[in-house]
Amino acid sequence: MSVRIAVVGNSTKGFAPAWSAALDRNGLTPSSIDKGRSDFLSVAAKFDAVMWHLDNGDLRDRISGRQQVGALEAAGVKVYPSYDSVWTYDDKVSQAWIMRALGICHPDTWVFLDRGEAASAASRLPYPVVWKQSHGSGSRAVQLVRTRTQALRLIKRAFGRGFAAYDMGFLLRDRVRGLVHGESSMVDVAKMAVRVLIPPHYVRLAPPEKGYLYLQEFIPDRRHDFRVKLVGDRVWGYQRTVRAGDFRASGGQQANYYIERDALPPPLRQLSRELRRRLKMNTVAFDFLERDGEYLLLEFSAFWGFSSNQHEVGYWNESDEWVVGSFNPFDWMVEDLLLALRSR
Ligand SMILES: Nc1ncnc2c1ncn2[C@@H]1O[C@H](COP(=O)(O)OP(=O)(O)O)[C@@H](O)[C@H]1O
Ligand SMILES: [Mg+2]
Repeated sequence: MSVRIAVVGNSTKGFAPAWSAALDRNGLTPSSIDKGRSDFLSVAAKFDAVMWHLDNGDLRDRISGRQQVGALEAAGVKVYPSYDSVWTYDDKVSQAWIMRALGICHPDTWVFLDRGEAASAASRLPYPVVWKQSHGSGSRAVQLVRTRTQALRLIKRAFGRGFAAYDMGFLLRDRVRGLVHGESSMVDVAKMAVRVLIPPHYVRLAPPEKGYLYLQEFIPDRRHDFRVKLVGDRVWGYQRTVRAGDFRASGGQQANYYIERDALPPPLRQLSRELRRRLKMNTVAFDFLERDGEYLLLEFSAFWGFSSNQHEVGYWNESDEWVVGSFNPFDWMVEDLLLALRSR
């Protein structure tokens, strides 16, 4: 069978170059197509399948990436990851809806779209609570709200001038904090200072986040969260220690990741497989917190960051057997896609 597959995404980082290499190994030379063109949809619709790494740092993808994936599927093109996998991407509000709809165990979450309702709820919230922006990663847009006064200030801003879509100040403060705790270097701080002074194009372009407020029950005293990644039912992952003097793990230094065989307990692996199926996602990274033996899902994403040392220790196969040594999750993605194309 000869299939025509296009790869969309950054050609130097993320999933796209790894997909291209995997397709090459399968004797399927991938085509690359330009998502920025207005005729993208008609060009892409000529392929049997499109593999697209949506990028939350690209405003075009934020504005119309998920919708184009939906349109491509409607045109009969197989997209990897599928629309079901990506419609909640980088969108904690959508994730709150689907978690509620499916009865997935997560911290109590309140999403307000009405300023008056948010203001009256502020008197009844169990402080401290966690405030999050819908779009964001690396703990950049996650904060503790300790009092009703603080909540009211957030409400005013959320339904007023809004928040910067990319809080570059947080990133700089985080690097300085890391320097104090021996987690980052002067070079890290200097690089970030340059980015704050000269923000990248996508940061300058992004409109402010406003018109909603996302608050969540705070789960106290957690030393680490769990990041569980899946392609199909293959599972791997790690624990991430929270930053020193802080409650947030995501986006901290890689040195604080625990990537051993015992990092993910068996019930968490089983739960993750079950949730991936219920969410109908081809691939996913879950963030969980553990409370009294129960795993609470914080967020999930079809696209995830990685470094090569995360693919060296081993993974749990479909039968939950440990397979020691290095692995290539992008090969699995291509394998799963080809299997799905063959069975159509
Ligand atoms: N409700 C919560 N209670 C306690 N800690 C939390 C809660 N939500 C998030 N965190 C911490 O904050 C980090 C970032 O939150 P998360 O929702 O994963 O956002 P991000 O998209 O920035 O990764 C998590 O890694 C976790 O350590
Ligand atoms: Mg996270």
